[in-house]
Amino acid sequence: MKIVCAYSGGLDTSVMIPWLSEHYDAEIITYTGDLGQSDADLEAIRAKALATGAAQAVVDDLRERFVTELCFPALKGGALYEGQYPMHTALGRPLLAQRLCEVAEERGACAIAHGCTGKGNDQVRFEVAAQCLAPHLEVIAPLREWELTTREAEIAYAQERGIPIPVTAEKPYSIDENIWGCAIECGEMEDLWAEPPPDVWRMTADPAEAPKGSTEITLSFDRGVPNAIDGEILPAVSLLERLNELAGRYGVGRIDMVENRVVGLKSREVYEGPAAVVLHQAHRELERIVLDRATQHYKMRVAQDFATLIYDGLWFGPLREALQAFIEQTQERVTGDVRVRISAGGARVTGRRSPYSLYDDGLATYADGDTFTREAAEGFLELYGLSYRTWGRVRRGQGAS
Ligand code: ARG
Repeated sequence: MKIVCAYSGGLDTSVMIPWLSEHYDAEIITYTGDLGQSDADLEAIRAKALATGAAQAVVDDLRERFVTELCFPALKGGALYEGQYPMHTALGRPLLAQRLCEVAEERGACAIAHGCTGKGNDQVRFEVAAQCLAPHLEVIAPLREWELTTREAEIAYAQERGIPIPVTAEKPYSIDENIWGCAIECGEMEDLWAEPPPDVWRMTADPAEAPKGSTEITLSFDRGVPNAIDGEILPAVSLLERLNELAGRYGVGRIDMVENRVVGLKSREVYEGPAAVVLHQAHRELERIVLDRATQHYKMRVAQDFATLIYDGLWFGPLREALQAFIEQTQERVTGDVRVRISAGGARVTGRRSPYSLYDDGLATYADGDTFTREAAEGFLELYGLSYRTWGRVRRGQGAS
């Protein structure tokens, strides 16, 4: 039997190699995808997998695909879970799951395995994606099965088998990072009242220690996709790297939130996503000038459903495709520039322009050159207010007319 096992080189997945081969008498193929996590040394990860018992180790640079096929569609859809979380983890899982299934089929494995816990969202995302894409594959979740219920037990298990362990007792955090963001949980942050310790952050500087003053950048979008900073056209991955660095230096993009997990519990998660946060802000601003009111308002509702669907692990389900078709249609004219001022801890939009702008300064102005027909407002209010006049009269006991 062959099992393809999602492998990051961290504690859980390192222990999974010997555990899976012992319990299933299986040949282990590890799979590692680079989504832009800062510790992704693919060659070192491959070497470690092979040195600790894997028969084969597959590694892929998925950054470009991740950004263009997952992150940018989420950006176009305005997908922020519960209004805040840009969902780097929720977006990463479907792509990793897809590659796990593909590798399993290519290499004749009948099962895939992941290192998600039984309490989290990621098991849902991996498994529903696999059910959509390769329903014949068995999915194994060792963390839901094994006897190693504490980190100490896992560490002891790894040490007995001579596997080098990446975590130390002083930093008990669970971290998931990629180019779209970083999530940090556990440790003292399980107390909702406790401020996240200063050493947990990876992508952002402490806003209190950010450079003085501010810096201004212009972000350009082409049909909803960011493609340039200050006029310089950049490939997707470089654009994100550059914006993460710039906004991260000013401590922009920190989110401390309590969220509702799919499995029914609330959890506290601390996020960083400098580029994601700035891009969502800028993209939303551009939509404000190019979308008509009805579409703009409707899209805000779709955004919420789209975000929940992504969060809930339904990326490969039919509703995502249908909503994405709507979203794509709305992006036809989301082309233009947004100027953003970045200073300690925050980004602020200071200008926006588009060849498709629906803003008409003749209509909007309060100065000379006003083209708005003020007289028409009177008739408009006569009818627009009709039902409220009726309601008001009845409420005051004066009858309907
Ligand atoms: N709560 C986030 C989600 O469900 C992130 C999960 C991973 N977090 C972590 N710290 N390992 O998408």
